[in-house]
Amino acid sequence: MATAMGERRFSPEVFRLLRDLIYDYCGIHFADDNAYIIHRRLQPRLDALSLTDFGDYYRYLHSCDAGARKFELEEIVDRVTNNETYFFRESYQLEAFRDEILPEIYKNKPRGKRLSVWSAGCASGEEAYTIAILILESGLFNDWEVRVFGNDISRRCLSVARRAQYGRSSFRATDDRLLRRYFREADNKHQVREEVRALCSFGQINLIDEAMMRLVGDIDVVFCRNVLIYFDLASRRRVIETLHKKLVPGGYLLLGHSESLINLTTAFDLVHLKNDMVYRKPVHG
Ligand SMILES: C[S@@+](CC[C@H](N)C(=O)[O-])C[C@H]1O[C@@H](n2cnc3c(N)ncnc32)[C@H](O)[C@@H]1O
Repeated sequence: MATAMGERRFSPEVFRLLRDLIYDYCGIHFADDNAYIIHRRLQPRLDALSLTDFGDYYRYLHSCDAGARKFELEEIVDRVTNNETYFFRESYQLEAFRDEILPEIYKNKPRGKRLSVWSAGCASGEEAYTIAILILESGLFNDWEVRVFGNDISRRCLSVARRAQYGRSSFRATDDRLLRRYFREADNKHQVREEVRALCSFGQINLIDEAMMRLVGDIDVVFCRNVLIYFDLASRRRVIETLHKKLVPGGYLLLGHSESLINLTTAFDLVHLKNDMVYRKPVHG
């Protein structure tokens, strides 16, 4: 690849080696015409490690100790992933969750008075807190054990999620009543109130790492929105198979509006709700 002044050498061979390393680590696939993303976003790591070019960087990743390698892989993922998210994203789907899925779980109590919802690929946490707010708003689960779990591979995103303080861009789809009710002002930002935070926990879990996925218990509803789009077919299948295992019979899977299970699996039923179509693990079989 031609390099401008100040840019580091990045041959197609080294791109493919780094691309495969990223794929093996987190399932995210970069096509050849996306080499510039890796080139641009990883260049600061070469400066930080005083390395001359990307070939050296690749060799460093193979020769450093396990701790340094883990740290560096996390740095890479933080730089190359898209962490775009905001509160109350895709409102029609959230209405289906609040008005149809939650009342159904309340009525059938598939796990007794316990409700577990998972935000898989939660980025900086807005999705998990949105889910918790909708559960509180439903008013149905006050004497239930409620757990909203958010996972992401990005350490940086998870530290934002745990801090639970957000700026203006996170609220582009939040109505004023909910903003006043569930957030308080702090340091020119909005802090998620304790009653919402108390329902939520976060973990650094890689969705394609089956050993880590054992940390996730039984789930009634999983939101996995705007995550699968970055994976290739094989990684998508792996992740969907894991989500299927974690869901209780009759549990729901909510994908992003541009995502579907076509060509991935037939293990879910497609359910037509008033506001949305969602996937459901069959109750029997
Ligand atoms: C675009 S955000 C989606 C956030 C949220 N679900 C939403 O729809 O607003 C995608 C997130 O998936 C995370 N991600 C990508 N690969 C992952 C993996 N293998 N394991 C866990 N999280 C991953 C990224 O770090 C990023 O934060």
